[in-house]
Amino acid sequence: MPPYAFFHKQFMPLSEAKIGILTHALHYGTACFEGIRGNWDSKQEKFCLFRIQDHYKRMFEGCRLLKINLPYSVDELCQLTGDLLVRSGYQENVYIRPLAYKSSEVIGVRLHNLEDDFFIVVTTLPSYLDTDNGVRCCTSSWRRVDDTMIPPRGKICGIYVNSALAKTEAQESGFDEAILLTQDGHVCEGSGENIFLVSGGKLLTPPSSDNILLGITRDTVMKLAKDVLGIDTIERQVDRSELYLAEECFFTGTAANIAPILEIDHRPIGTGGIGKVTTQLQKLFAEVILGRNPKYPAWYYLVSPKAPI
Ligand SMILES: Cc1ncc(COP(=O)(O)O)c(C=O)c1O
Repeated sequence: MPPYAFFHKQFMPLSEAKIGILTHALHYGTACFEGIRGNWDSKQEKFCLFRIQDHYKRMFEGCRLLKINLPYSVDELCQLTGDLLVRSGYQENVYIRPLAYKSSEVIGVRLHNLEDDFFIVVTTLPSYLDTDNGVRCCTSSWRRVDDTMIPPRGKICGIYVNSALAKTEAQESGFDEAILLTQDGHVCEGSGENIFLVSGGKLLTPPSSDNILLGITRDTVMKLAKDVLGIDTIERQVDRSELYLAEECFFTGTAANIAPILEIDHRPIGTGGIGKVTTQLQKLFAEVILGRNPKYPAWYYLVSPKAPI
């Protein structure tokens, strides 16, 4: 079965889904997207599309910021995604990429008086960061975009140039991932992940007002920590030096899952190994993304690959 896309309001082989080279979004980054994991449960022979409704709700917010009209409801988008997944024929973990964009083929920077379009593709995604062995990070020389520049609370395509600059700088310097600071020097997040510290037995993470993307994994981790482990999360501004002194540190994200941070700027975090709280959260998270924790039914959207299309 060839991979399929939902494009121009229909399902088609991915090889036929093409855009013109004058497409506005290609030139100016005027698009927003989501990354959704479809976790394959080989026992139940079903995919769990984890918190798909929340991903599409966030996508609607990105569309509002960019004046993109997305002519579907959240339920319709979930249904379309499930249908595409069934057609695509995968029986393994998948990564789903919906993208809404300014589709007019015109030159001229603006958001108004342009046509919009939308597509979804399903693909596989190998481990994005090493969740088993942990990662080594540096503080980036690039600063995270500010809400006064491009709203970081949207997953806006143009913003990812900021992330790409930081990621490449980190990897070309021998690190796995970058940690970006805000304009005023507070800890913000990784190039595609939110960041948590374990400090004084509590979780600590930068607040939404510090230009983070409000991650769905971040929210999941805060709820699991509170509900299951009885650990509170404090959302407040975090200084760079607090990272160095933390007991544990980890990233969260749909692509990255929960990735332990072992070292920052050549300094070991805590003992330099994977911490106890991080390990507990990783275990809980691995179970919940397969739809196996009955406490959170609203997070699961199950799709059987045998469902009639
Ligand atoms: C810049 C950025 N921060 C944080 C995240 C984590 O968000 P989520 O957990 O919703 O995937 C992502 C990934 O979507 C991201 O691109």
